[in-house]
Amino acid sequence: MADYLLAIDQGTTSSRAILFDRDGQAVATAQREFPQHFPHDGWIEHDPEDIWESVLATCREVLADTGIAPEAIAGVGITNQRETTVLWDRATGEPLYNAIVWQDRRTDEACRQLREAGHLEDVQSRTGLLIDPYFSATKLGWLLDEVPGARERAERGELAFGTVDSFLIWRLTGGRVHATDATNASRTALFNIHEQRWDEALLALFDIPENLLPEVKDSSDDFGHVDARWLGEELPIAGVAGDQQAALVGQACFTPGMGKSTYGTGCFMIVNTGEVAETSRNRLLTTVAYRLNGKPTYAMEGSIFVAGATVQWLRDGLQLFADAAETEALARQTRSGHSVYLVPAFTGLGAPHWDPKARGAIFGLTRDTGIAEIVAAGLQAVCYQSRDLQVCMDDDMSATPGILRVDGGMVANNWVMQFLADMLGVPVDRPTVLETTALGAAYLAGLRLGWYRDLDEIAALWRCERRFSPQMDEAERERLYGGWKEAIERVRTE
Ligand code: G3P
Repeated sequence: MADYLLAIDQGTTSSRAILFDRDGQAVATAQREFPQHFPHDGWIEHDPEDIWESVLATCREVLADTGIAPEAIAGVGITNQRETTVLWDRATGEPLYNAIVWQDRRTDEACRQLREAGHLEDVQSRTGLLIDPYFSATKLGWLLDEVPGARERAERGELAFGTVDSFLIWRLTGGRVHATDATNASRTALFNIHEQRWDEALLALFDIPENLLPEVKDSSDDFGHVDARWLGEELPIAGVAGDQQAALVGQACFTPGMGKSTYGTGCFMIVNTGEVAETSRNRLLTTVAYRLNGKPTYAMEGSIFVAGATVQWLRDGLQLFADAAETEALARQTRSGHSVYLVPAFTGLGAPHWDPKARGAIFGLTRDTGIAEIVAAGLQAVCYQSRDLQVCMDDDMSATPGILRVDGGMVANNWVMQFLADMLGVPVDRPTVLETTALGAAYLAGLRLGWYRDLDEIAALWRCERRFSPQMDEAERERLYGGWKEAIERVRTE
């Protein structure tokens, strides 16, 4: 009897394999970090072999550590860093170049030219996205143009493109399946989210040969089987979603107006909009939340590029503390209402500013500013940016969350969560299971495999561990947020 689902969570800085039981409880986890490559200012790459090896190693490790036999695994769910672009040889499975990571800004100029040529509105209406280096299309274009021979080989049908989910599916199935799911496809800027198909006009605009593209499936679907050589047993891959959409599923945000924010490397606030693909007037993104039985559910998304990465920088770059867990005590030492602002625009600004050239800054330093104030400012920046997204969503959407569900590494910090509730003015709910991204992938696989009848059954498994209610008075909230808006204006270049 198969008692577990294996979720693969392939993130920006590490890969994880997590076993879940039927109640959505994580039974065991294995995690491996892998190297980040920064060949030039604004460029970020991963070696796809590192991604693959870390995935395989963590899957094997989680089974070995628990002594759980592969036969006890009902199936596999995959969730992944989105937009990151891989191009590989169909015959050998070898990547032609490193993966170009979602944060990479090398196609900034190409995007600017496309915007200046007036393509923004058309791209937004088809994809729900903007023209920005964040998305896969221009990254793939760069690979085809810059890797010697790539375009000719692509025209001859020798190559395959994929986001990380596709690459892993290809490798796990021994090259038998070239597929992705609708959530990942919706981040490429090549996929028409209304018609749910690769869009010829976009392929022409970005100059991408169609034969490179994977088949787009539902998020709960048949993605083939993990070849027995990898884990000792053929296991069905039955659920796939980009990590932020998977977190929405793991947080059981299944009705319009329900939303979650994930505080990982970056921060992604996503709100379910149901069957309607609502368009933002404030440069937020419209995206596929999940697709089940051929039917897409949409969401609106605000993407902030740097959240937990600020804490990493404060720790490793500035060496202000040794362990992220120390940040809560440091922040508690600060006088409430201090006016230091840290704008972590290390790779430009994401939503709603989309200013790739902006860079970070610290403002409001005084003679008594110490480590605690700078650390607190780094933590608060994440909350201020969440407020920026909330302001846009309130303006854009018919129903915005009256309660925000949160997850990701940073939400362990109670001080940050209280400040977040204060800044947003709505309760912030932290669930008992914080591995919501992996959990979402497991749920999607479980739906396909008949573990769960429907989304209601999954929603009933969600549990709140702690609610943070807003306590700050309105005037103070607005004063602090006003200071943040001034700081943002000072780093903007556009
Ligand atoms: O869009 C990028 C996002 O999917 C990356 O997520 O968790 O790896 O920071 P994460």
